[in-house]
Amino acid sequence: MADNRGVVYLGTGKVEVQPIAYPKMQDPRGRKIEHGVILRVVSTNICGSDQHMVRGRTTAQVGLVLGHEITGEVIEKGSDVEHLQIGDLVSVPFNVACGRCRSCKEQHTGVCLTVNPARAGGAYGYVDMGDWTGGQAEYVLVPYADFNLLKLPNRDKAMEKIRDLTCLSDILPTGYHGAVTAGVGPGSSVYVAGAGPVGLAAAASARLLGAAVVIVGDVNPTRLAHAKAQGFEIADLSQDTPLHEQIANLLGEPEVDCAVDAVGFEARGHGHAGAQQEAPATVLNSLMQITRVAGKIGIPGLYVTEDPGAHDAAAKLGSLSIRFGLGWAKSHSLHTGQTPVMKYNRQLMQAIMWDRINIAEVVGVQVISLDQAPQGYGEFDAGVPKKFVIDPHGLFSAA
Ligand SMILES: NC(=O)c1ccc[n+]([C@@H]2O[C@H](COP(=O)([O-])OP(=O)(O)OC[C@H]3O[C@@H](n4cnc5c(N)ncnc54)[C@H](O)[C@@H]3O)[C@@H](O)[C@H]2O)c1
Ligand SMILES: [Zn+2]
Ligand SMILES: [Zn+2]
Repeated sequence: MADNRGVVYLGTGKVEVQPIAYPKMQDPRGRKIEHGVILRVVSTNICGSDQHMVRGRTTAQVGLVLGHEITGEVIEKGSDVEHLQIGDLVSVPFNVACGRCRSCKEQHTGVCLTVNPARAGGAYGYVDMGDWTGGQAEYVLVPYADFNLLKLPNRDKAMEKIRDLTCLSDILPTGYHGAVTAGVGPGSSVYVAGAGPVGLAAAASARLLGAAVVIVGDVNPTRLAHAKAQGFEIADLSQDTPLHEQIANLLGEPEVDCAVDAVGFEARGHGHAGAQQEAPATVLNSLMQITRVAGKIGIPGLYVTEDPGAHDAAAKLGSLSIRFGLGWAKSHSLHTGQTPVMKYNRQLMQAIMWDRINIAEVVGVQVISLDQAPQGYGEFDAGVPKKFVIDPHGLFSAA
């Protein structure tokens, strides 16, 4: 049986590439399955969601194999897999979903009811998401393969666009979902909090959806410079000028039509002093302030039910000091949760193949080897304007 290697979480701030088991056709509960495939991993990306775990801000256990953003080639399939063939190139939605439960039938694949005994929602290589082995590895198992996988059309053409297509497993659908749930349409003015890969993907999605103007805010000037170079307006929240004033300086009014939180619970405060420390409700409160009445706020940024590293007792349980009354008074709609990737990935694949969106360039894709993964984690954590994509078999350079 072939060997396997993967990126393993070893405690706060520490990941290492280690030998791991080659995938078996069985679920994490040890039941044999026939609906799965084993993939040779073609690309697998490091995500801000991984960093929450690696920074010790979740209850992730040491020994977890990381990686939920996976593109791969089918090399083995169970007898119940009908629509995929050996050799197919596929994009893996980060959600593990059964395709059979009420949530899946209603397209809410981010909260599948059967793949995780502890709560709704499954993912690869993620705390509290059902113990599915992560894909920052050479090989990985994907269950319910016919339902979950998106087959990439032409192999050669797909490999030409692989730096873009690798974003289909999470950040592009997630950014798009953020923009859609914020109500972005032709002519919208949009504010996106966070200039990380998800924020930039939301900004690019807003552009695709026809937004008139997209402002990206962050406390990290290097990431803002990158966002500016990609053609977005920026708000520098490490400065003392309040967000609504920065928006007014750009738009002539202190509000936008649509807002997206692409930051989550590790948000920093605003202003010179504020940006030095964490203030988990900052983004949500500021978005209610700057979104017009009856506007929508898309919240792909991740919030947790347990945060052992939080500063106060309430935040340790995910309770934040949110000025909900303001959102209520303004008739805001708020949309939260894991992205149901499958709802969008096919259309976004088409947008990539027909050059409607240059997502790799917008998010700053940088390809690294599996052995360079720990370094990638370190640089990403330091806030470089890059999206690290691991190429475990050296297939990018071959393409
Ligand atoms: N809902 C989903 O399905 C889903 C999927 C993927 C990622 N996520 C989440 O989306 C968030 C962003 O992911 P990412 O990979 O871009 O992470 P990231 O950590 O690279 O980016 C977050 C950015 O937010 C900035 N920031 C901090 N405080 C801020 C503030 N007050 N205002 C504006 N910007 C601020 C940081 O400087 C950083 O650049 C994370 O919470 C991640 O877990 C959710
Ligand atoms: Zn991700
Ligand atoms: Zn399901």
